[in-house]
Amino acid sequence: MDLKDHISIDALPKHVAIIMDGNGRWAKQKGKLRAFGHEKGTKSVKQSVETCAELGIENLTLYAFSTENWNRPKLEVQTLMKLLVLSLKKEINTLQDNKIKLNAIGCLSLLPKKVHKELLDVIESTKHNTRMTLTLALSYGSREEIASAVKEISIKVKNNIISPENIDESIINEHLYTQNLPDVDLLIRTSGEQRISNFLLWQIAYAELYFTNVLWPDFTKQHLYEAIIEYQKRERRFGKTSEQLI
Ligand code: IPE
Ligand code: IPE
Ligand code: MG
Repeated sequence: MDLKDHISIDALPKHVAIIMDGNGRWAKQKGKLRAFGHEKGTKSVKQSVETCAELGIENLTLYAFSTENWNRPKLEVQTLMKLLVLSLKKEINTLQDNKIKLNAIGCLSLLPKKVHKELLDVIESTKHNTRMTLTLALSYGSREEIASAVKEISIKVKNNIISPENIDESIINEHLYTQNLPDVDLLIRTSGEQRISNFLLWQIAYAELYFTNVLWPDFTKQHLYEAIIEYQKRERRFGKTSEQLI
């Protein structure tokens, strides 16, 4: 029996988010440059995107580049940006064929012009697709996201558009980059690190966390199935007791 047959299709997570980590270590283990790991990592991206779409997962969010990643050596940042443009160009058909809508979160204006433009072009050309929303977190940091939401809300308060008594969780949600996305149900991190690294802090409040030692370039369809099977074994109580859930 295939692992896929162990997945119950009526209990799929609505929103899966992945911290794709371990490209550098994967390359180092093979005596290669980090760039080689990033390039191989794009194959895992393609596979995960296709697998989620096939299964019927409605939202997949991938952490591709953090605000902190700008502090990496210039050459590595350039390599990552180049790979991003290449992948967007190369995978546009995969997105269209699978009816996937591309979305991006983060401080996108910091991206090199070429990357920003390519990204906006693909977002525009896939905007009518409805099977799955693929969100790329690029130049993304959760604290920056929250700070900019606070700034926007403050301006609206100052201009009497929002009154302070009305500020609640849904107003905060509406001012985050993820405004149109549901909360994360399942957060996966590869490479063995057990930390969040400034990813979707607000949105993972009740997510199930899944850590695997597999390095991102080695992460396959089967590994994704395993994560979903494990997710489906968890009891999500949202503060209630087990008995209340029956
Ligand atoms: C993830 O792999 C890719 C990005 C963060 C862009 P890393 O490049 O972090 O690989 P490791 O963690 O050094 O192995
Ligand atoms: C998190 O990975 C960011 C991405 C996967 C894009 P890092 O490799 O940058 O995280 P830390 O620095 O080890 O926490
Ligand atoms: Mg890393």
